[in-house]
Amino acid sequence: MGNVSVVGLQWGDEGKGKLVDYLAGQFDAVARFNGGSNAGHTVVIGEKKHTFHLVPSGALKGKELLIGAGVALDPIVLREELSLLPDKVKEKLLIDGRCSLVSPFDKELDVVLEQMRGSSPLGTTGRGIGPAYAMRALRLALRASDLLNNPDSGAPSQLYSRLGVDPTRFPAWVNESKRVVLGLVGDVGSRVVDIGQAGGKVLFEASQGTLLDLLHGSYPYVTSSHTVVSYVPAGLGIPSSEAGEPLGVMKCYTTRVGSGPFPTEIMDSTSDNIRSVGNEYGATTGRPRRVGWLDLVALKYAVRINGVKKIAITKLDVLSEVKEFRACVSYRHMGSETGDFQRSLGHLHEVEPVYESPFTMHGAKYDRELPSQAKKLVDYLEAALGVRVSLVSHGEERSRTIEL
Ligand code: GDP
Ligand code: IMO
Ligand code: MG
Repeated sequence: MGNVSVVGLQWGDEGKGKLVDYLAGQFDAVARFNGGSNAGHTVVIGEKKHTFHLVPSGALKGKELLIGAGVALDPIVLREELSLLPDKVKEKLLIDGRCSLVSPFDKELDVVLEQMRGSSPLGTTGRGIGPAYAMRALRLALRASDLLNNPDSGAPSQLYSRLGVDPTRFPAWVNESKRVVLGLVGDVGSRVVDIGQAGGKVLFEASQGTLLDLLHGSYPYVTSSHTVVSYVPAGLGIPSSEAGEPLGVMKCYTTRVGSGPFPTEIMDSTSDNIRSVGNEYGATTGRPRRVGWLDLVALKYAVRINGVKKIAITKLDVLSEVKEFRACVSYRHMGSETGDFQRSLGHLHEVEPVYESPFTMHGAKYDRELPSQAKKLVDYLEAALGVRVSLVSHGEERSRTIEL
């Protein structure tokens, strides 16, 4: 096995952090290629819970940690995150000089833009992600490498002030940020290639999920970066031949944080039960996650977009506490049925899910072996999605993982 790219197949929070930590032992480095501190990746070891926002989830396995050019880097969040981790984590960290920075002004703008949307906000994480990537596209962003010189903040400051955000603290923020990244900035793409040439392997860790991809997700209810496998090479600055094998991660039900269409959403005592048993609250914002049944229409699309042949399924233990199991096999819209997510993108908020309930997972107990109910789910997903299930997660703790 060479490099592997872990990507989310739903609307984020699929359990990528847990699996990246689990798999990291087999790799030399873990690299983030997209997103920013909107990500909240949870790793649980024993009783201790760690939430990663910018630091790759291989940190607790002592791996080399790479933050690629595609990431929007908030130096102040990074400083806070590093302060909660052992000192040696910082020694393992390399940040690409091309990372555009997220400033406090981007966060203020995030709030202003949400207010402008009035009664239909996106429900962003408020981490300044949209404005920071917009500044990159406008060619006004400061990048990590700029902090090492004396960057000219004239044009971005003017823009922020025209948009009603006071940029007078800009120079102070630049100085503060410089202290965070000093000694950590380099060329991540070239490091990944060097590791490969020396016979090593890198695990690539996506933030968010395929359905939140800026181009391929449920636009405009998406994030502002690319979350799909094809962005791994671009986001790191490596040849596409180095992106390795994709591993898709999915929950055995669906969740979504923030606004936007969600065909299989449920709002009843079952969703309350799943939220409470599965602890479905945002790792970054603490917001209750919206909960729904498994959506095979959306998953087939995500498998196709990413070219995934292997998947990991998470949260099976949660379904042990739920009487029913449902999977959406097609969408009904204006009298006709389709299994094509792409065709439904324009009217996702209007489609009606068509379900089947082939079995229930209620009462399944997990040990080292997969219980028979879980085997049924694995077979069902392999047949429906045309993939192989290689990992099953049945608890938040690192060890609650079964390799198939
Ligand atoms: P990520 O953003 O994809 O890394 O996922 P999050 O960490 O935001 O959300 C996943 C949540 O589910 C976290 O609280 C994990 O600790 C937890 N988790 C992961 N896998 C499992 C599992 O198999 N069972 C249970 N009960 N919790 C899990
Ligand atoms: P991880 O990496 C779940 C959602 C927000 C909002 C939309 C846009 O933990 O899976 P943004 O702040 O990015 O402009 O918000 O995207 N969102 C996530 N939802 N998991 C995430 O990351 C998310 N990152 C952003 O809730 O709906
Ligand atoms: Mg998360």
